[in-house]
Amino acid sequence: MVLAAGGSRRLRSSRSKVAHEILGRSLVDWVVASARAAGADPVVVVCPPGGLRLADAKAVIATQEEPAGTADAALAGLEALGDYAGPVLILNGDTPLVTPGLLQRLAAAPGEGPAVAAMAVPDLGAYGRIVREAGRPQGIVEARDDPLPREGGGEANGGVYRLSWPACREELRAITPSAASGEAYLTSLFQAGFAVVSGEAAELAGVNSRTELAAAEEEAAARIRAGWMERGVTFRLPATTLVGPDVTLAPDVEVGPGCTLLGATAVGEGALIGPGTDLVDARVGSRARVARSTVEHSVVGEECVVGPYARLRQGADVGAGCRVGNFVEIKASRLGAGVKVAHLAYLGDAEVGERANWGAGAITCNYDGKSKHRTSIGEDSFIGSDAILVAPVAVGAGAYVAAGSVITRDVPAGDLGVGRGRQRNVPGWARRRR
Ligand code: UD1
Ligand code: CA
Repeated sequence: MVLAAGGSRRLRSSRSKVAHEILGRSLVDWVVASARAAGADPVVVVCPPGGLRLADAKAVIATQEEPAGTADAALAGLEALGDYAGPVLILNGDTPLVTPGLLQRLAAAPGEGPAVAAMAVPDLGAYGRIVREAGRPQGIVEARDDPLPREGGGEANGGVYRLSWPACREELRAITPSAASGEAYLTSLFQAGFAVVSGEAAELAGVNSRTELAAAEEEAAARIRAGWMERGVTFRLPATTLVGPDVTLAPDVEVGPGCTLLGATAVGEGALIGPGTDLVDARVGSRARVARSTVEHSVVGEECVVGPYARLRQGADVGAGCRVGNFVEIKASRLGAGVKVAHLAYLGDAEVGERANWGAGAITCNYDGKSKHRTSIGEDSFIGSDAILVAPVAVGAGAYVAAGSVITRDVPAGDLGVGRGRQRNVPGWARRRR
């Protein structure tokens, strides 16, 4: 069960705290994914009344009407379990780095009573303090109610728990709001004799501020990069690159400085990404090279050379061995293998046959102010520089379009389309003007 119905006060945000993202995935989605990876099923998410956008379609939604504290949130979630009886893991929704391994250790903690994951911290800050007597856990004291100084550090509550349901029902119901905050604390349930499982601060860090959000993203990114390095990926200046949790990278991929690889991006063997490249839901083929470019929801085929400064978006599908050069934008278009679009071009809603050559400055006019229209370019055709193709229009296989043409009618295969003013030279004009 994931507690995600709290406010966003310390983030000073109008959005729910747990909707804030690290590496393109919301905090709550990180926690749900970790619970799933640990084998939790069902997963209940306690949401505020408006609900939350969740990636996990199978998550069971429970609603906490008012953010009256973590004990109240936990009760709202537990009641949603129906007649389930047995152990329940309860996870704060703002603890995105929690690992499946730690959750499994917590589930396997001794006994069947309450158990909590804790970590040693140099400063207790806003964390609850685990209080021990003669080494035995006695309780959890919240920051607002703690009489002791917190700067010296100690054993902090990591905000991840195991309880037994419905055994804990009456105790949870009996928790009264704290005088200091007006909230009912889930941690009040932890009285002498609970189990403690220790974890690392790197997996239990809570996110309560923008600073902690940034730190959690760095930590997640470092963990993900280290995983890919072990599997044969090279990163140059690794700390400058972000790789999302759903990205896959093949061996011998090399990622240059300053890249962000997010969403369901997949990069094939030996491809060279970067420097300065952003990929979102991109598929890049083996041995392709993409430099200083943006590729979103698009495909780059094997051995393509893209960039610097190209932008592929919204379903661009670039075939193998294409060359997409500087200041080229490709949107919702398919390019066959071996097409060259080397400079300053726009292709929108176009189909381009294999080996076609698209000249510098040539563009599709795909939008008439109301609707989008398609352009079709045959294989081995040659689109001259600065041509304007007014869609809907088709250029046949092997045809030529003269440089500077405005093409409004189809050009049949093998023909030359010319659509421009004829040049006139005026003899002696310059001399007379002086
Ligand atoms: C909580 C713990 C603290 C622990 C820390 C670990 C309590 C009282 N304190 O403090 O001991 O060290 O986590 O990170 O639990 N939430 C709701 N409904 C509410 C209140 C909160 O769903 O009414 C959710 C929040 O969205 C959040 C989680 O519960 O995901 C924890 O709430 P938060 O306010 O962040 O608790 P902390 O003060 O961090
Ligand atoms: Ca918190």
